[in-house]
Amino acid sequence: MAITRSKNEQIAVLTGGGDAPGLNAVIRGLTTKAISLGYDVLGIRDGWRGLLDDGENAPLDLDEVEDIHMTGGTVLHTSRTNPYKIEGGVEQVKKNLRRLNCKYLIAIGGEDTLGVAAKLHKDGVSVVGVPKTIDNDLSETDYTFGFDTAITRAAEAIKNLHTTADSHHRVIVVEVMGRHAGWMTLDAGIAGGAHAILLPEEEFDIDELCKIVESREKKGKNYTIIAASEGAMPKGGELKFKDTKVDAFGHKILGGTAEQLAKKLEEMTGKECRCVILGHLQRAGSPTAFDINLGTRLGIHAAKMIDEGKFGMMAALHGTKIVSIPLEKAVEKLKTVPKYRIEEAKLFYEV
Ligand code: F6P
Repeated sequence: MAITRSKNEQIAVLTGGGDAPGLNAVIRGLTTKAISLGYDVLGIRDGWRGLLDDGENAPLDLDEVEDIHMTGGTVLHTSRTNPYKIEGGVEQVKKNLRRLNCKYLIAIGGEDTLGVAAKLHKDGVSVVGVPKTIDNDLSETDYTFGFDTAITRAAEAIKNLHTTADSHHRVIVVEVMGRHAGWMTLDAGIAGGAHAILLPEEEFDIDELCKIVESREKKGKNYTIIAASEGAMPKGGELKFKDTKVDAFGHKILGGTAEQLAKKLEEMTGKECRCVILGHLQRAGSPTAFDINLGTRLGIHAAKMIDEGKFGMMAALHGTKIVSIPLEKAVEKLKTVPKYRIEEAKLFYEV
């Protein structure tokens, strides 16, 4: 690799929010590119928390990042910390960047981490963002890395559940992550052959679900698989879901959809029902080749953005190209599943 003369300038890099497969590919991509451009790179541990205290940090060199792109999780570790919710947090972040001799910062994360990055830019930090989330709910990028791995895992699980559901003549409700966006449930549900797909974008009707189960019975198909987003809600509030705790960014900790729905369906159809919560298995383990490649390209682009002074911007996938867009636009509003995609899915399961 050709290395330009050292610029004696250092870029800090951190990963924030839930981990997503492909994070290490971004870290390797940006480190390799930044070093080739003459920068030093400093890895900050545990997301924003690592810039709030005197936490651990370590220089990243080519040896450190060799082959990490094939591994899951994040070598820098992560947290859901919000410096804007901590008194003096922003000043502390700026002070620590100066103390660590980091002129620039690359923040890799979802709407929360990038929301903080957008504000920090206004507060004078030279920051660039890289979009990450298994939920695929960030605006201004066609896909986020981590999503492909998560739907591959979820689709495989939904597909495999057919044999056990069929053997026992059961209804199985599979709960898929994704918070308030149904991208994961939609794509995994279609790929895994779910017989109904429930998304946060459209309230579901329990009577309709019973009809799907019954109409399959009439056709001699004695089992049904329902893919349900963790954020899916029934019409008319027939079910109450767990939403007690909130995290540092004010998000409700979701869960319980599949369990409650399975109970209700058992009562209403008289059929044996079970629930399966895929949970963190969806984002655990190694990334797919797609996520490795997307992560790598975003990482390379982020290092170039620092070099070109494109601060307050985020690397994004538009078609097959990686482009730079304003961070503010990416976090302005959540990207949710449009109506036409929901209608496409319904082709396969409407009664
Ligand atoms: O945003 C990613 C995500 O995996 C969501 O799909 C899910 O609701 C949430 O994080 C789970 O959060 P935690 O890792 O804090 O349990």
